[in-house]
Amino acid sequence: METFTSIDAMRAWCREKSRGGNTIGLVPTMGALHEGHLSLVHAAKKDCDHCVTSIFVNPTQFAANEDLDQYPRPIEDDLAMLRDAGVEAVFMPTADEMYPGGPQTHATSVHPSAVALPLEGVHRPEHFVGVATVVMKLFQAAPSDRAFFGRKDFQQLCVIEHMVHDLNLPIEIVPCDIVREPDGLAMSSRNRYLSDDQRQRALCIGKSLNQVEQAFLEGNHDPKQLESIMADHLSPCDSVDYAVVVDRQTLLPISEITQNAVALVAVRVGVTRLIDNRELIVA
Ligand code: PAF
Repeated sequence: METFTSIDAMRAWCREKSRGGNTIGLVPTMGALHEGHLSLVHAAKKDCDHCVTSIFVNPTQFAANEDLDQYPRPIEDDLAMLRDAGVEAVFMPTADEMYPGGPQTHATSVHPSAVALPLEGVHRPEHFVGVATVVMKLFQAAPSDRAFFGRKDFQQLCVIEHMVHDLNLPIEIVPCDIVREPDGLAMSSRNRYLSDDQRQRALCIGKSLNQVEQAFLEGNHDPKQLESIMADHLSPCDSVDYAVVVDRQTLLPISEITQNAVALVAVRVGVTRLIDNRELIVA
């Protein structure tokens, strides 16, 4: 497995590998890898001739009061996991390589609107500017045919799909299913912050989504009633940023589910912020 810290070297590797029409699959990550990330790698390896993964804890998507400094960086474990999974190349730039002179000196960034504005956009106002900008930069550094993203970060996936569409980027976004622990907790790099007690309490998130899905499948298409079912189950959390049922495309509130919707949750258990979701597909 080759590792690259320079954008030029990474780009040259992709150009070389794509000769003769071979396809490249990119899996962008911030490291602290788990089975959820590996499922993206497996999908990329299955779909594409070559697979590259990036590991970059992107400072511009963290607000000043967030966990940038504490964010886990078990780089040796990550590289071992990627090697075992059969990844051929890892792009692991320094912050200086990605943002020479610091992000504040850059004149250009990507400002997503519409789907970026509600929900996470309210609670983390600069987050999606940071995400969209770094994903755009990763697409330039590791030019690939397809990029693989998990559905757990549902709004992030929508923002990136819109960016690719709106800016005519020559890359296909492949959404991949949420991977859960056997007890239902969605896999996340932040789960490792949880104490045993907090982890037990966090199970209410998956349970609340199960209840909503069951009520929906039994014919309840009233978003307000579904949201109150969710809220009832989320009481073990320390706080709830949102627990909503919204339109699947726009992420805006709806008065009745007539087309596909999605239940989205963001909570805090202790100081750890966790998100999860469940798509509600109209038959
Ligand atoms: O989902 C993540 O891990 C990050 O937001 C991403 C897409 C790698 C951008 O930093």
